[in-house]
Amino acid sequence: MHYAPVTERLASLGSAKWAVHYRARELERQGREVILLTIGEPDVNAPDMLIDTAHGAMRAGRTGYSDGRGEHALLDALAERYGARLGRRMEHANFIAFPGTQTALFAVMMAMAEEGAEVLVGDPMYATYEGVIRACGATPVSVPLRPEQGFRMQPADLARAITPRTRVIFVNTPHNPTGAVLRRAEVEGILDLARAHDLWVLSDEVYEDLVFGAEPFVSPLALDDARVVVTNSLSKSHAAAGFRTGWCVGSVEFCARLLPLAETMLFGNQPFIADMTAAAVRAPDLVAAGLRARLKRRLALVTARLEGVAGLRVHQAEAGMFALIDIAIAGRGNGDAFAHALVEETGVAVMPGSAFGEVLTDWIRVSLAVDDAILAKACDLIAAFAEGGDAAQGVAAR
Ligand SMILES: Cc1ncc(COP(=O)(O)O)c(C=O)c1O
Repeated sequence: MHYAPVTERLASLGSAKWAVHYRARELERQGREVILLTIGEPDVNAPDMLIDTAHGAMRAGRTGYSDGRGEHALLDALAERYGARLGRRMEHANFIAFPGTQTALFAVMMAMAEEGAEVLVGDPMYATYEGVIRACGATPVSVPLRPEQGFRMQPADLARAITPRTRVIFVNTPHNPTGAVLRRAEVEGILDLARAHDLWVLSDEVYEDLVFGAEPFVSPLALDDARVVVTNSLSKSHAAAGFRTGWCVGSVEFCARLLPLAETMLFGNQPFIADMTAAAVRAPDLVAAGLRARLKRRLALVTARLEGVAGLRVHQAEAGMFALIDIAIAGRGNGDAFAHALVEETGVAVMPGSAFGEVLTDWIRVSLAVDDAILAKACDLIAAFAEGGDAAQGVAAR
């Protein structure tokens, strides 16, 4: 049979990155005690308010076809939220509802880049971005996000990577996996480049409400209303990933272009999910406030237990659900070797940094979305494991 090239382009992306996670699950099936620090899902269930609203809406008959752009009540809530946050009037025509950020990213990228185009994206990046870019035939061009710059995308690095084929600067702020929040001057620099080279800026802001550091979040959309498109959802902010509900925000012109594609993909969303999303959008801190406090506390816990142990260094994330740990001088090999040996020896499963990009070859990513006591136990196991390594050899090897 003949398969379209997109199936080839995406074939090698995906499951290999999750090898440690799958191995931990296998060990669990064999009866081993395992602590999974691989995944970032909020540590609470979706709140009753969301479930009751969706349930009530289903009971009230909100189960038919939806408007292709999104239900009016949801578009009202989104226009209010973004109007207030961006400080300018937003209309229904600035939004399209999607089942989650992931679908929104896919559709938006389809509207921005085509075969032969180049998309600038940070290294490290969230695991699905390469697929999003390759699905439409474009090529990801990675721009290093360096630890010494807090893993924040630097306009000077972007400038070096721009070619006549560049179409999009793909931004993720707050960033997964590093928890970096772009500063206003960096956002301005990125937008200056985008204007000078006529590029789109796609900004994935799924962690917008999980900023626990001191630096304020600045959306590129607050500083440019023509070439910036934002994606977001309730998955992180409201512990509602399984509801699959999100949206994109952009210019009226962009959304008008994208709407037929969204309708072709989805034929509308679910009215009862839209009602629930509208209620959630009007209650941004329902889950996020508690989550922010717990994430901040747990990053402090990981730092207190691991910083300096066998040369480990805990990066101070400003947002998001993860702690990044530099394991370069622990003497247990690179992040991949460290994570594989760690799960075998201790049952603690962490993500090797290389799953997110080359810059993190000597790092591991630890989820903060687990109970404090379990996280503390995992940290003690990681510390003992790291101390068992040959630190002197590690220093020499570096
Ligand atoms: C940076 C980033 N973007 C997008 C997503 C997917 O979000 P959604 O559930 O809204 O599709 C995730 C999920 O982990 C993420 O970390």
